[in-house]
Amino acid sequence: MMMNRRSLILKNGPRVIAGSSLLTQCSFLRDVPSPLQFKDLKPEYNAELHIREGWKSHLLVTCGDVINSAGDRFGDCADFTYLDLNRNKKGKDFLWVNHEYINHIVRYGRKLKPKEKTRKMIDQERYDVGGSYIEIATGGPDEPVGLVKNSLTAFRVTAETPIKMTGAAGVGRAVEGMVGNCCGGATFWGTILTCEENTDDFYDTKKDVFGWVQFYPRSKYDYGWVVEIDPDQREFRKHTALGRFAHEGATVVQSQSGQVVVYMGDDKEGEHFYKFISSGKMSDEIAANKDLLTDGTLYVADIKRGRWIELSPRNPLLQKEVSGKFKSLKYILENTREAAKIVGATPLARPEGVVVRENGDILLSLTQNLSKKDLYGSVVCFREKDRDFCSMDFEFSVWLRGGPELGFACPDNICADTKGDIWITTDVTSLKLGRGPFNFIPRNCLLKVIEEPGKPLSLEVFATAPDGAEFTGPSFHPDGKSLYISVQHPGEGSYEEGNKLSSFWPRKSSYGPQSGVIVISM
Ligand code: FEO
Ligand code: CA
Ligand code: CA
Repeated sequence: MMMNRRSLILKNGPRVIAGSSLLTQCSFLRDVPSPLQFKDLKPEYNAELHIREGWKSHLLVTCGDVINSAGDRFGDCADFTYLDLNRNKKGKDFLWVNHEYINHIVRYGRKLKPKEKTRKMIDQERYDVGGSYIEIATGGPDEPVGLVKNSLTAFRVTAETPIKMTGAAGVGRAVEGMVGNCCGGATFWGTILTCEENTDDFYDTKKDVFGWVQFYPRSKYDYGWVVEIDPDQREFRKHTALGRFAHEGATVVQSQSGQVVVYMGDDKEGEHFYKFISSGKMSDEIAANKDLLTDGTLYVADIKRGRWIELSPRNPLLQKEVSGKFKSLKYILENTREAAKIVGATPLARPEGVVVRENGDILLSLTQNLSKKDLYGSVVCFREKDRDFCSMDFEFSVWLRGGPELGFACPDNICADTKGDIWITTDVTSLKLGRGPFNFIPRNCLLKVIEEPGKPLSLEVFATAPDGAEFTGPSFHPDGKSLYISVQHPGEGSYEEGNKLSSFWPRKSSYGPQSGVIVISM
């Protein structure tokens, strides 16, 4: 199989140029006191989603849609999308989509207490998380794109799918399914990475947010990993060498030495930024790279000193730790957060998405840190010494600061198109949007960063999401004329104020809101 390494580094296709003509029909956005030009947007087919004039959106798939000839169905809370450029054919796209969790308010009409749930409800929930690999007919110039419902290629991975474990904390074991799959990444050898984030919501007996543990008690150490999906072999593996925490995503690059480096955020207030360096080196023979993520070394960032700190029993601080538990690599990998704190890693404001630019700069989204009164978050930049991804030293700077001045807040996903332009999605909590300190941001947005020589960075709003929703996981098509993106948890704030749904997206009826994936095209 031929692999386009560069496109995988940059994740997706070429720049999509945002339309700029003005049209104001969106009254709910009209008087927003923001430097962002929300008035440049036009309402889309059901008026809940707004995009730049000159562009249109088309609904591809929502929770419950049949995706293949076996009758499998698309899951809930669509997140990360990955356009599989290695397998796309003329007239046919293949897209991986994460299903992060269940939108309970919308599914049940209220927040059910864990004990109120039946096994049947929970079985359905366990089917509706994980991920989907779907087939999309892209049609001719005048034909709309659409989901192939009888695909022979599409498949599901759910909370019940057997998944193999690799590395010191898992070798020889298989576990049941994956949960909390938020963002992800892609490798150079044609596989997809999908990351388990808030897994405690599913399997922590003390938290028991979703009520699963009453019927399905599972070890928390089986969850919180990076999962590699091989669509051809339908092989699924959790790589414990990359550590266990609330994995947001996994951005893969190749170092000058030929080793593979993976940058990863742990999305929780006060948690850390990590990188993994493979022991092995990339081979031109694609199949020979298959096990590169099974063995390597994990590091965590100390921003004060501009240093990466090794998380292994070789680190004297872990060797000397009084309990003696951190002498074991298995223990370090299973308890990565604790190990990071022992070695003095820098606490951060919810590290989320990562993108590596062509010049080697590593941009990381920090959503917010309420306990430190950082309401709006930022995008920060790591520059490795000598631009070598294997370097142990880096420079750090703040690239973009959220807040009223720039008009954006709470950055989450971040990605580049092949021209190198940076795109950001925001994740402001539903009930805070447009209010109080967030009055300048009425809806969660897809933003493009405008970089002009000699001028400060600015932002352009490309689209705004329905009430309660956030955009997640944009994937730009190499045709330069379209992008796939998820619309996650519309109506999330429903019933909080008055006994009503706050959104009906994507359908204009009492059917109720659903997460799904759209394609935005020129
Ligand atoms: Fe699931 Fe970190 O967003
Ligand atoms: Ca996210
Ligand atoms: Ca988020």
